Amino acid sequence: MKQRSSFTGSLGFVLAAAGSAVGLGNIWRFPYLAAKDGGGLFLVVYLILALTFGYTLLTTEIAIGRRTKESPLTAYKQLDKRFGWIGVLACLVPMIIMPYYCVIGGWVLKYFLVFLTGSGLEAAEDGYFTGFITAPVEPILATGVFLFLCAIIVLGGVDKGIERASRFIMPVLVVLVLAISIFSLTISHEDGGVSRTGLQGLAILFIPSFKGLTLGKFATVVLDAMGQLFFSLSIAMGIMVAYGSYVSDDADLGKSINQIEIFDTAIAILAGVMIIPAVYVFAGKEGLSASGPGLMFISLPKVFAQMGVMGRVVGTLFFAMVLFAALTSAVSVMEAVVSSFCDRFPIERKASALIETLIAAAFGVLVCLGYNKLYFELKLPNGTVGQILDIMDYISNYLFMPIVSIATCILVGHFVGTDYIAEEVTKNNSKFGRKGLYIVMIKYLAPILLCVLFLQSFKVF
Ligand code: PHE
Repeated sequence: MKQRSSFTGSLGFVLAAAGSAVGLGNIWRFPYLAAKDGGGLFLVVYLILALTFGYTLLTTEIAIGRRTKESPLTAYKQLDKRFGWIGVLACLVPMIIMPYYCVIGGWVLKYFLVFLTGSGLEAAEDGYFTGFITAPVEPILATGVFLFLCAIIVLGGVDKGIERASRFIMPVLVVLVLAISIFSLTISHEDGGVSRTGLQGLAILFIPSFKGLTLGKFATVVLDAMGQLFFSLSIAMGIMVAYGSYVSDDADLGKSINQIEIFDTAIAILAGVMIIPAVYVFAGKEGLSASGPGLMFISLPKVFAQMGVMGRVVGTLFFAMVLFAALTSAVSVMEAVVSSFCDRFPIERKASALIETLIAAAFGVLVCLGYNKLYFELKLPNGTVGQILDIMDYISNYLFMPIVSIATCILVGHFVGTDYIAEEVTKNNSKFGRKGLYIVMIKYLAPILLCVLFLQSFKVF
């Protein structure tokens, strides 16, 4: 029997899990949704859902991991033989995500280097981003370097690799986010006789706006917040089961879960403080209509270019911060797969990590070629048009992840019973303060909400 690795203590676990949770989603989607969905209104809805819906799903996965001491691929089978297939899906999700997350990580790395080694002004030129991602070789190299960094950390082991990297990266990340946020609040700019300040931008994030709010629009706010939360807490990706399985039995699970949630939410809100005022000052409200790669690789470089000398400094720090955020998330995705292979097949951790690296490398190249030799446009069921990256993203995020989560709720709520989770959370006299809420959520509300989210991905309504 192989000896199971473990985190050295609660702090190591919390930092590693927070490292997974804090990722591109916090930075390129949360601020955009907050600006779009009524600022403070979105924040309140998000916080309520985090304390109920997010808390329930996160607790469930981490408790399953710690109780079974197994990786996602094999853990679900232990709960109930008929539900072993959830584990297969929960292992496929990170396998699908890993290659394209590395491709995006490669883009971040490239932008970091552009700002570090030059003025970064070229990144603000029209067509720069498209020119880069459609190039034949460079994106593949960047993907390779990013994947290599992940592989080194994962090969180092749970405590000496993942935990050690998180203990270094997460505090630095927090300092960077705080520094850029403070800077963002101090800027102001005059544009065609209109003067805008960072503080006015901050109002967009925090002051609730009920303008034109209808029931339908409110439903959109709730669904946006829920989808974001689901992704942001790294739920249904097998990650929290894998990380949970490395937590020692004497750790206070409830406390750690709260800390992970607080960390993730605080960084998401701070990302709003960092991005919304800066974009608003230099590009006005219209500038806030971009999210995802469009925001990060097109709008923000234009904002940095307008900051003069400070632009290069802020751009470098910003992309360093994003790189750190992406790296710890990618490491967690890789670990979910690596631990699954280790538990299921008679191979050592190192071999498992090498196999997963090769798989990610092969598919990563395919994703890169999707913007070049293998370019095509496919209309996806959610109405967007995409390439290979978007198809993989669609299959994992819109199809498999909701299925994993709905099935997990049904499994725990109606087959194995909520005591299975409660016993784990309350081990060593730890408190399970929201137990009543948890039971209602996992049995009824969470699966219903998740079904609505799932149907929305087909544009059913
Ligand atoms: N929580 C991550 C984020 O917000 C999501 C994620 C984690 C995606 C791990 C991929 C891998 O970006």
